[in-house]
Amino acid sequence: MRAVTGIPAQGYARRRRQLMRMAGEDAILVLPSAPERIRSRDTHYPYRQDSDLWYLTGFPEPEAVLVLVPGRRHGEALLFCRERDPEREGWDGPRAGPEGAVEAYGMDDAYPIDDLDEILPGLLEGRTRVYYHFGLDTEFDLKLIGWLNRVRAQVRLGAQPPHEFLELGHLLDEMRLFKSRDELKLMRRAARISVQAHEAAMRAARPGVHEYELQAELERVFRAADAEPAYASIVGAGANACVLHYRANRGQARDGDLVLVDAGAEYRGYAADITRTFPANGRYTREQRALHDLVAAAQAAALAQARPGVPYEAGHNAAVEALTEGLLSLGLLKGKLEKTIADGGYKRYYRHKTGHWLGLDVHDVGDYRIDGESRLLEPGMVFTIEPGLYVPVDDTSVPAKWRGIGIRIEDNVVITQDGHELLTEGLARSAEEIEAFMAAR
Ligand code: GLY
Ligand code: MN
Ligand code: MN
Repeated sequence: MRAVTGIPAQGYARRRRQLMRMAGEDAILVLPSAPERIRSRDTHYPYRQDSDLWYLTGFPEPEAVLVLVPGRRHGEALLFCRERDPEREGWDGPRAGPEGAVEAYGMDDAYPIDDLDEILPGLLEGRTRVYYHFGLDTEFDLKLIGWLNRVRAQVRLGAQPPHEFLELGHLLDEMRLFKSRDELKLMRRAARISVQAHEAAMRAARPGVHEYELQAELERVFRAADAEPAYASIVGAGANACVLHYRANRGQARDGDLVLVDAGAEYRGYAADITRTFPANGRYTREQRALHDLVAAAQAAALAQARPGVPYEAGHNAAVEALTEGLLSLGLLKGKLEKTIADGGYKRYYRHKTGHWLGLDVHDVGDYRIDGESRLLEPGMVFTIEPGLYVPVDDTSVPAKWRGIGIRIEDNVVITQDGHELLTEGLARSAEEIEAFMAAR
């Protein structure tokens, strides 16, 4: 049994040690695997491990629980997991079993998941604080309360139940926010696969193409590289581009339509998140081009803020200013720049924020604000920069030529010591580059 994670076993051990150091000697940390979800009767959705458990173990199976017990003499990192079972493995594929959890995944000790009920109360006893992610898996929340009550029932016999319950994310999210060299390697790979997928979609574009045909191109490239979609791929032709989380992907691109593609690969758990908006026929109209140039300028303005020491929010503010300025000069908005920004008039065409953290989750964990203030960018932080403009089809406040145009440009960056690295480098981005790419296909 060999772990296929892209991160060396010592990397996980280091993360667990760091987390335990932060939690303290009197703490215990409990992390269940993601539950399997039924899609239809007795078939399941593709299984995706819980990001926190994956981050700390690389263990891919359901029905597992990681328990970290800092300072415990007989082992600090314990995994409860399914036992080997030749009959079941014949149907569902191999399992690591507790032996494999120790040998291939570097656990100090491992037990059958069926023994959890018997063993966990004893591990909780004598610990002051429990770190756990409450409210994510209600069924497991109730089990944990049951184990705590079992310890509480023993108080008269001298048992000491934990009496502080803390949000695990408080410690772990902050760790996950800063990507290590090994993680960045995987994120570069996810980005490179996604760049190739977007190129395949641009190559396949033509008037009359269905959105699902382009989705098939994207996801063919993902799977051919041992990756999968990090989120439901968005392929919106024409006015469908204005629906921010459009997922139907059943429309057809007409001659003269733009197609907005927001799709990214997940590789070894790490996501990329790219958007491009290209003309189905390879040439932008004058209005499409004007708005695309404007979004590109907003993205460049945000990108210029991507360096250490700058508040995270500065990128969004720079994009909003560039977009608003452009909308005013094109006549889609009327008024003064400062006022249109201050009273949010631009939100008529730009409703979302300019980005989000990116990592094991496409909308990754980590605080954006600290003590009410935007946090400052630091090396190792990875995020998207994704300004857009969406003119509703029924917006009669602007001439008809603008209506139904939806554009977003989204790239992924990592903050470095002296600036940033564009993870999604190499994919045609400006209208000019996209037209040239499509002309050469
Ligand atoms: N694809 C989801 C997002 O861009 O945030
Ligand atoms: Mn996206
Ligand atoms: Mn995004």
